[in-house]
Amino acid sequence: MESLRAHGRAYRPTHVINCAAYTAVDRAEEEPEQAFAVNAEGAENVGRTALELGARLLHLSTDDVFGGYLDRPFREDDPCRPIGVYGRSKREGEERLLDVFPRACIVRTSWIFGPGGKNFLSSLPFLLRTQEEVRATAEQVRRATYVRDLAAAVLDLLCHTGVYHVASHGETTRYHMAVALLRAVEKEQLPVVCRRIVAASVRDFPKTAPRSDYSVLDTRKAEGVLGKTLGRWQDRLKEYMTQCAF
Ligand SMILES: NC(=O)c1ccc[n+]([C@@H]2O[C@H](COP(=O)([O-])OP(=O)(O)OC[C@H]3O[C@@H](n4cnc5c(N)ncnc54)[C@H](OP(=O)(O)O)[C@@H]3O)[C@@H](O)[C@H]2O)c1
Repeated sequence: MESLRAHGRAYRPTHVINCAAYTAVDRAEEEPEQAFAVNAEGAENVGRTALELGARLLHLSTDDVFGGYLDRPFREDDPCRPIGVYGRSKREGEERLLDVFPRACIVRTSWIFGPGGKNFLSSLPFLLRTQEEVRATAEQVRRATYVRDLAAAVLDLLCHTGVYHVASHGETTRYHMAVALLRAVEKEQLPVVCRRIVAASVRDFPKTAPRSDYSVLDTRKAEGVLGKTLGRWQDRLKEYMTQCAF
């Protein structure tokens, strides 16, 4: 908290975007204290600091707060029933943040992909360049989110209050995204080593945190405020390929 205050005094921001998080979803199961320290207590501390500074605050959160108990897209006011440590810590962060800073904006997103990220979708270009066979789960359904579209939406939502869902259109799985990206790079005749994508089961990755089968965000509320429809992930692959410099 003191460190945040010191930075606040030094920079005097008018707007704060909190992207900091403990995001090691699997490791969080083994070290819940660290996950809650960053995602719950940390979010509250950022909220307190922004309040003291009189700054606007936008905080990033995740579809994992829901726990995937529905078979239709999740709306902002659907109850949260997270099933893993990461989701629980992020949900507690949302609640603690809104307790101290009710005018904050919370943007929940899912499966961010873009150059430089470290999750599976962001690592795909590297995997296609270096592995003959790439295994990807075909069971968990989400909306992926192109990072540039997320960044643009975050800037547009910065002065709003409340919870908003932001994700690119098109329900998908890691397997279907990997297949689509491989087809796209082959079509462009870009250099890849990968010859096939193998549909894997979550059972092939046993040491993982519990993840829901279906966790799709309904983005209509954000689109109403933004005055436009968010793009489809399929339409972002070409730009993504260019950014990744195949
Ligand atoms: N990636 C996704 O698919 C996804 C999906 C849904 C929601 N989100 C949410 O989006 C936000 C950004 O995620 P991301 O994928 O960009 O995560 P990321 O790549 O893991 O980045 C998290 C950042 O938080 C910083 N951080 C961690 N603990 C900190 C602490 N105690 N103090 C200050 N900084 C700290 C990390 O710094 P170091 O690198 O120095 O550790 C890192 O820069 C998070 O709120 C996440 O929950 C992400």
